[in-house]
Amino acid sequence: MQQPRTESHRMILVTGGCGFIGSNFVLDWLAAHDEAVVNVDLLTYAANPDTLASVANDPRYAFERADVCDLDAMRALLKKYAPRAVVHFAAESHVDRSIHGPLDFVRTNVLGTGTLLEAARGYWKSLSAQAAGEFRFVHVSTDEVFGTLGPTDPKFDEHSQYQPNSPYSASKAGSDHLARAYFHTYGMPVMVTNCSNNYGPRQFPEKLIPLMIVNAIAGKPLPIYGDGMQIRDWLYVSDHCSAIRRVLEGGNPGELYLVGGDAEMPNRDVVHTICSLLAKHRPGRDYTQQITHVTDRPGHDRRYAIDFSKLQRELAWKPAENFASGIEKTVLWYLQNEQWVASVQSGDYRKWVETNYQQR
Ligand code: NAD
Ligand code: TYD
Repeated sequence: MQQPRTESHRMILVTGGCGFIGSNFVLDWLAAHDEAVVNVDLLTYAANPDTLASVANDPRYAFERADVCDLDAMRALLKKYAPRAVVHFAAESHVDRSIHGPLDFVRTNVLGTGTLLEAARGYWKSLSAQAAGEFRFVHVSTDEVFGTLGPTDPKFDEHSQYQPNSPYSASKAGSDHLARAYFHTYGMPVMVTNCSNNYGPRQFPEKLIPLMIVNAIAGKPLPIYGDGMQIRDWLYVSDHCSAIRRVLEGGNPGELYLVGGDAEMPNRDVVHTICSLLAKHRPGRDYTQQITHVTDRPGHDRRYAIDFSKLQRELAWKPAENFASGIEKTVLWYLQNEQWVASVQSGDYRKWVETNYQQR
């Protein structure tokens, strides 16, 4: 049996902490807590270890390079660190990449989540009754599992039906179902968060907002898919991180929590907002001249929107940023961190840009 953990031994284990949301979560966590965090990440193309350079020597931070699909490695890490909770971010996360290569998504998102849950189950069973009662597993997921909405449909909520449309959302739906099954079958204290589109510092420039910012700065085309009237509900990343912390501390095992920003917006408006902010902070050019319309994404979901009233009512969470404040902070971050951007634009990145955009 694992040793009962004392206050001084409390720590959490995060997977995917070198990615966009995971890295923001680790930085916010260490800024707000004394509690230690171990970050388990395979360092795929989406990871940038430089992102966490500021905490690399912090005694409360540890890093382990490992694959969530490796059951022995996950078991060994849980035993080594004896965390009181797991927050699972690691995933393949980009819809366009899932269209080009769906099986990587099935492997990491379905098999990886299943493997981590299975390792966590063995660990959780080995804990003392008190530690097992306090243990939590938060599975971080997306609103995309619910499919697409019509223009006047009510927003997604915790009762929405799963109707995933892309290989990415289908693989995340599979992972959500496994998380649910581990609660219902084994009683493991698992909670799932389904969040809308995030944006903010340290997002890999393959997603809409960072791609448009870095292309605009570089004088490159700003490729809007189709008519650009697809709607997403945008949430600033630190608000997603605060929602996950609330769910971790006060959420009920076995439940879903939807997280959103109350900021529905068509892609065209998002891109025009970025162009205006760049014109304000780096004047001298009309960035809208770089906008191009390219062939639409196959199976492109038209609208996502989130009703987060459960999280607001039960856990007193609401976003601190609105879209106007969050997007300005984000544009400024990319303007001030051009070195970070250069460091992630490797040969692999350039190959991806060619694959996704050249034939459009
Ligand atoms: P990301 O692609 O930026 O980062 C993913 C991280 O996981 C990377 O550091 C990568 O190295 C790591 N990883 C990938 N495969 C791994 C494996 N097999 N083993 C260990 N580590 C592995 O993703 P993100 O945007 O930060 O998203 C994090 C989580 O949040 C994902 O589960 C995603 O589905 C979910 N989510 C994302 C958004 C969004 O807008 N980005 C919205 C809602 C939910
Ligand atoms: P993305 O950031 O890939 O997130 P998701 O597909 O998970 O919502 O895309 C956000 C929206 O922006 C989506 O409707 C697709 C669109 N988009 C473009 O129009 N052009 C682009 O180059 C990219 C990457 C996305």
